[in-house]
Amino acid sequence: MEMKQTVLSGIRSTGNLHLGNYFGAIRNFVGMQHEYNCYFFVADWHSLTTHPHPNDLHGNVKTVLSEYLACGIDPEVATLYIQSDVPEIAELYLLMNMNAYIGELERTTTFKEKIRTQPDNVNAGLLTYPVLMATDIIIHKAHKVPVGKDQEQNIEMARRFARRFNTIYNVDYFPEPEGFSFSGNLIKIPGLDGSGKMGKSEGNAINLADNEKIIRKKVMSAVTDSGPTEMNQTPPEPIENLFKLMEVASEPSTVLHFRERYADCTIRYGDMKKQLAEDIIRLTAPIRERIIAIQSDDDYLGRVVRMGAEKARESASKTLQDVRKIIGFRRF
Ligand code: TRP
Repeated sequence: MEMKQTVLSGIRSTGNLHLGNYFGAIRNFVGMQHEYNCYFFVADWHSLTTHPHPNDLHGNVKTVLSEYLACGIDPEVATLYIQSDVPEIAELYLLMNMNAYIGELERTTTFKEKIRTQPDNVNAGLLTYPVLMATDIIIHKAHKVPVGKDQEQNIEMARRFARRFNTIYNVDYFPEPEGFSFSGNLIKIPGLDGSGKMGKSEGNAINLADNEKIIRKKVMSAVTDSGPTEMNQTPPEPIENLFKLMEVASEPSTVLHFRERYADCTIRYGDMKKQLAEDIIRLTAPIRERIIAIQSDDDYLGRVVRMGAEKARESASKTLQDVRKIIGFRRF
């Protein structure tokens, strides 16, 4: 029997999951569960770089965990866990830090960007963020890491750290993890603010947990323009973004209808947005209902995280034992 490859991915617990997370990532995680040996986790240690208030930390973790489950991650099939429940990760992170160099960490784009955007909080955790992320991946000897384009450099660093460990100790121990985009159709979900992609911090997102009223309000206030002036003109970015959202949320015939109305200049954005809002609601309502049900079931969540921690620690401690031996630690 051929061994299943290992897939791993994590999401930082810094807010609600949105449509971009769903179409860009989680929907694919759900599809991979049966094909691969999957590890999915809530990256709560990673969330500490921005110093969440102690009153918020647990709630943030619970939100992402419930939303993973509501989207269809099956904890009996995949290993679903909380990063901080696996202390082995912290030890391997310490060991990996010895072979990560300040220079290469300082040159990372995300780090340089943080220096710019949060100059008052350039902590060492931010600097070594790629080391912790590499550790998350290699501790389960993962082969494939489904992530968005923005994580490419972190994956490249993980490959480098894995390779470096193998070279330093002259072993062939860690596989070099690969970024993984889904069957060629890596979709970027645009935001509602006219440009760029949907993001947690950009304030342009529709969350999976948003209720009907909020979704209608957000969609109706999406950026548009004064309408097409020439037949068959190419829509500008804000309008094209609405069509893109329609393409994931609505029936092909609906998209075609509004594309035609745009082409012959008879489109009314209000009608289009109303339709889009209803289609998004139809799509997210069942997920939202499950989020609410799961969030109120602390017994279930407790069972899920205990089971996840147990499975994750089993795999992680096996790796850590091997690594200690490779580095030269011996028992007295
Ligand atoms: N850095 C990722 C993000 O911001 C989250 C993350 C942490 C992660 N550890 C990981 C993703 C390991 C994949 C694998 O989205």
